[in-house]
Parts: sequence; C-alpha cells; structure tokens
Amino acid sequence: MTAIRREDRKGRTFLLTRNLAKGYRVYNEELQMKDGEEYRTWDPFRSKLAAAILKGLPEDVIREGDRVLYLGTSTGTTPSHVSDIIGEKGLLIGVEFAPRVAREFVENVARQRKNVIPYVADARDPSKYNISKVDVVYCDIAQPDQTEIAMENCRQMLREGGKLLLVVKARSIDVLKEPAKVFGEEKTRLEDGGFRILSIIELSPFEKDHALIYATN
Ligand SMILES: C[S@@+](CC[C@H](N)C(=O)[O-])C[C@H]1O[C@@H](n2cnc3c(N)ncnc32)[C@H](O)[C@@H]1O
Repeated sequence: MTAIRREDRKGRTFLLTRNLAKGYRVYNEELQMKDGEEYRTWDPFRSKLAAAILKGLPEDVIREGDRVLYLGTSTGTTPSHVSDIIGEKGLLIGVEFAPRVAREFVENVARQRKNVIPYVADARDPSKYNISKVDVVYCDIAQPDQTEIAMENCRQMLREGGKLLLVVKARSIDVLKEPAKVFGEEKTRLEDGGFRILSIIELSPFEKDHALIYATN
C-alpha cells in the first residue's frame, strides 16, 4: 500500500500521507484515520512537492525505502511528508544553513522520525555532509546559483540513474526576467551539465512564478 492517498472532495483532489510519527503534526495539518491508519493532509499551498504532484509529477517519484538528500529543509513542511513516503526503510538527509530554522526542523521533524538525519550546513559545501549515494536529490534553496549547487551535490552523491527534483523560484534568479525564460535557462544549464530533463512543472495556482524541474543524471 502506498503512503500517499488521494481524495476527491467536492470536485477537488486532496493529498494525504500516512503519518510515520503517529499523533504528531508538523504545521498544524489535519490528521485523519483511514482504513485503520493515521494520515496527514498535504497542503499544496504550503508544499511545492504536493503542488507538483497535483499538477502531474508522477506520484511515485519518491518511493518507499529511498535515500533522499534534501537541500533547504526550512522548518520541515515538505521533508516531513517525504519522511512519511520513504517510510522506516528510507532515509532523508536534511540540509539547512539557517541555525534557528534548522533547530525548528530538529524539534518538529527529526526528533520524532528515525528516518531523518539533520545537518546544519551550507549546500554549497557538500563535504560537510559527505554521505553515501542517494536515490533522489531534492533542492529548494531559492538561491540565484541553486542549479549549480544542486548539480554539484548530484555529482558527488546521486547514484547513476537517480532523480533530481529542483524547485525554481524565478524571482530568486532574476526579478526582472519572465519566469518562463528563467525556467528555460535553468533547463539548459542542467542539460549542459549532463542531466536529462523529464519534465518541467509550473506550480501555479499554488505558487506564483515557481516551477519544479524533474531530471535524471
Ligand atoms: C523555500 S525554503 C524551503 C522550504 C521547504 N523545502 C519546504 O518545502 O518545506 C528555502 C530554505 O533553504 C535554506 N537555504 C538557502 N540557501 C541555503 C544553502 N546554501 N544551504 C542550505 N540551506 C539553504 C533557507 O534558509 C530556507 O530555509
């Protein structure tokens, strides 16, 4: 049984993930019992991964048992759902460079979940969290040079045939340029770096001027 559930309510689709930390909420999300299991609602207005899945990213892009390098955990909204999806056999290595935010991530997420290892580190210096190969690199750090940062992390830690999920916030890269142009340029940057683009998912109406690029090495 997959850890993700879809529900249709009044013509709208909602996502839920099976809660690995029973009884705990991370961002005041709703908890619901379904078929004897506890699920957490997954808000696409708070999580770009949920938005991307609702807009067509394959639901099984991250799977049970996967090792995920997550760059830019913030306080843990999306990482907590990734932790639900990969389950007890998976591992999420979470990197966040802002110490106060990283502390909240530890309190809210890592403490209740054995499959999460937090690092307070700069994603520009992967030697600080040198880990063995992962199946997925998820990058959401909203930095102008984030594509380079993501690619360097992949070169060092993504297994061959692994997946890169890169959140692009157009305004963080160039406030004046048309978002579609920024997404195209980041796509080219990835292709020049040897990645194959599988899809580019624009995240409106959940997030304005954002896209998620799904690529493989
Ligand atoms: C948009 S938020 C991430 C939201 C989170 N991914 C989620 O969906 O719940 C971006 C985060 O990346 C962190 N960040 C930015 N640059 C970073 C870097 N170079 N290394 C590590 N973390 C970074 C910021 O401190 C911030 O918490």
